[in-house]
Amino acid sequence: GEMITIGLLGAGNVGAQVARTLVEDRELISARVGAPVRLAGVAVRDPETPRDWKVPGELLTTDAEALVDSVDLVIELIGGMEPAGALIERALARGAAVVTGNKALLASRGAELNALAAHSGGLLRYEASVGGAIPILRPIEESLSGDRITKVMGIVNGTTNYILDQMDTTGAAFGDALAEAQKLGYAEADPTADVAGHDAAAKAAILGTLAFHAPFSFDDVYCEGITEVSADDIEAAAASGYVIKLLAIAEKHSAGQAPGVVLRVHPTLLPRTHPLASVRGAFNAVFVVAENAGELMFYGQGAGGKPTSSAIMGDVVAVARTVLMKKGTGTSVPDAPSISGEAGLP
Ligand code: HSE
Repeated sequence: GEMITIGLLGAGNVGAQVARTLVEDRELISARVGAPVRLAGVAVRDPETPRDWKVPGELLTTDAEALVDSVDLVIELIGGMEPAGALIERALARGAAVVTGNKALLASRGAELNALAAHSGGLLRYEASVGGAIPILRPIEESLSGDRITKVMGIVNGTTNYILDQMDTTGAAFGDALAEAQKLGYAEADPTADVAGHDAAAKAAILGTLAFHAPFSFDDVYCEGITEVSADDIEAAAASGYVIKLLAIAEKHSAGQAPGVVLRVHPTLLPRTHPLASVRGAFNAVFVVAENAGELMFYGQGAGGKPTSSAIMGDVVAVARTVLMKKGTGTSVPDAPSISGEAGLP
């Protein structure tokens, strides 16, 4: 029968867990796909780097391009713009399936890469890019596709939520809490992306694009991080029944203004009774309001190797099933929902 071959790019926090799952849980993943899957290789910069899970030596390669050219499905977990962007383009151009968690890349080149996938018959999924383990993109794209979303508001950066929570509950200093978040594997390689709000802004662009069916990029998001939030601010908020959270918000303009969608990331005062106020540590949550559905909340672990690998593997199984169907029938199947269609407004 058919076999699905997989190439993994990157073996950091998340990549090592994905490699582990593909090797140790190969039978489970194959059963879920409905055909045998095989991890064909893991491309890394330095094979000697110690990793959270020791990738079998025969799988390691430094030739990412050759790996991309030889598999059915590429999992990109290098992060950042390049070489991740060029490798994803290369995979999509040859009609391969791509699963990625690369929020920075999607927030700046998502529309272009989705269009490339649509034209080449490739597939592109990125559930892990927002909210780690939380299923949030597929519910927005699919479950709510028959409704009108009016607002998305979320805690989408685990590092900053961890820092603010530690400062609030233990009185920890900003720097100590950040160091701890780094040690726990939540922070970006350069944690400036977390504390300055850039990581949350990338996720706001991705959420806004899917919720409002118009392509938004990182540059469309007003962004303010948590570096100016002091222990005094947090104490003053607590004294009056509030908590300070870094929120990513995507919503329709209120009546009277020019029609459009506003995207923003900033520290926000939330009453302690608000559902988002109870989101502790590195947990994330996304609060969605839709015309008919009303209020929804999605909650879970938003950062870390294992939780994020769960979302990656869910996408891997989903696209592998599609690849299998294509191989079996020799015909193409519908691509993921387009996001470039209804420019302007819902
Ligand atoms: N640095 C990110 C965070 C990782 O802290 O949420 C998950 O995208």
